[in-house]
Amino acid sequence: MKNLISILDVSVPSLERLMADAARLKTERAEGCGLPLLAGRCLAMIFEKPSTRTRVSFEVGMFELGGHALFLDQESLQLRRGETIADTARVLSRYVSAVMIRARRHETITEFAAHADMPVINGLSDREHPCQILADIFTIRERFGRTDGLVAAWVGDGNNVCNSLVLSSGLTGMEVRVASPARYAPDPAVLDRARAAGGRVTLAATPEDAVTGADVVFTDAWVSMGDEGEEAERRKAFAGYRLDDPLVDLAKSGAIVMHCLPAHRGDEITDSVLDGSRSAVWDEAENRLHVQKAVLAQLICPYDERSFQQMLLG
Ligand code: CP
Ligand code: NVA
Repeated sequence: MKNLISILDVSVPSLERLMADAARLKTERAEGCGLPLLAGRCLAMIFEKPSTRTRVSFEVGMFELGGHALFLDQESLQLRRGETIADTARVLSRYVSAVMIRARRHETITEFAAHADMPVINGLSDREHPCQILADIFTIRERFGRTDGLVAAWVGDGNNVCNSLVLSSGLTGMEVRVASPARYAPDPAVLDRARAAGGRVTLAATPEDAVTGADVVFTDAWVSMGDEGEEAERRKAFAGYRLDDPLVDLAKSGAIVMHCLPAHRGDEITDSVLDGSRSAVWDEAENRLHVQKAVLAQLICPYDERSFQQMLLG
């Protein structure tokens, strides 16, 4: 894996390695041990949109791996005054070992990567949120011991997080059913790419159809960052797409509920579901940290270099 821009950048062997590394890092953190695999390395983090989980988990993750993370908001970079993405990528490549970008436009990340001489991580774009879905896959595996053969239902907006879930279907072996109002269904090109990558992905006619018999039930905001101008029409369109107890009761017994957060309590999910026994959202949020540490280690310090470093550390 060279970059993590799309969940499709992750191969089956990379996923297995990431999941194993994340599990080991999680245990080591709980036991208070762990190697400073990224000592002396810096991660630049460029944010064009707000963040709580992504910023904090990457920053803490770099610290715990012995490295350092720089928070660069777009207002304080020369990008704001017209320096090009390409030039910014060239210059940052001379200073840091990797960059994480949360961008309004997905193309900003791909253009940056085309000119960078270091790994580039998508920390959310208008099209995808691969870090989130890797943490979600890890969380599902913690709960069920596998993803293969499970059924995931997505209820709500066919947005960036939904796209990454849909695109991960071939990687995980999980069937993904999406229930969205027609206007907010995932892009057909995304569904085609998911199927071409071996995914089993269907559009359900109603939230009930999607959730019935599901093992994992997902939702996310009706109004994502950048969609605020459409708030009134979106609220109307999504009115029947709320995760409440009667809807989640249609899922399999033992099913879990996931939400990348931030949640809009009472809109896409009720308090009772978010805080209830089926909710996996707090583990899901925590697992961003462990999985991203595994991603950072794999991208910045691959295994061959790692064993050398471990030898040096004694
Ligand atoms: N789930 C997620 O990416 O959260 P933040 O927007 O807080 O980073
Ligand atoms: N779909 C949401 C995810 C936030 C983490 C958004 O893009 O705002």
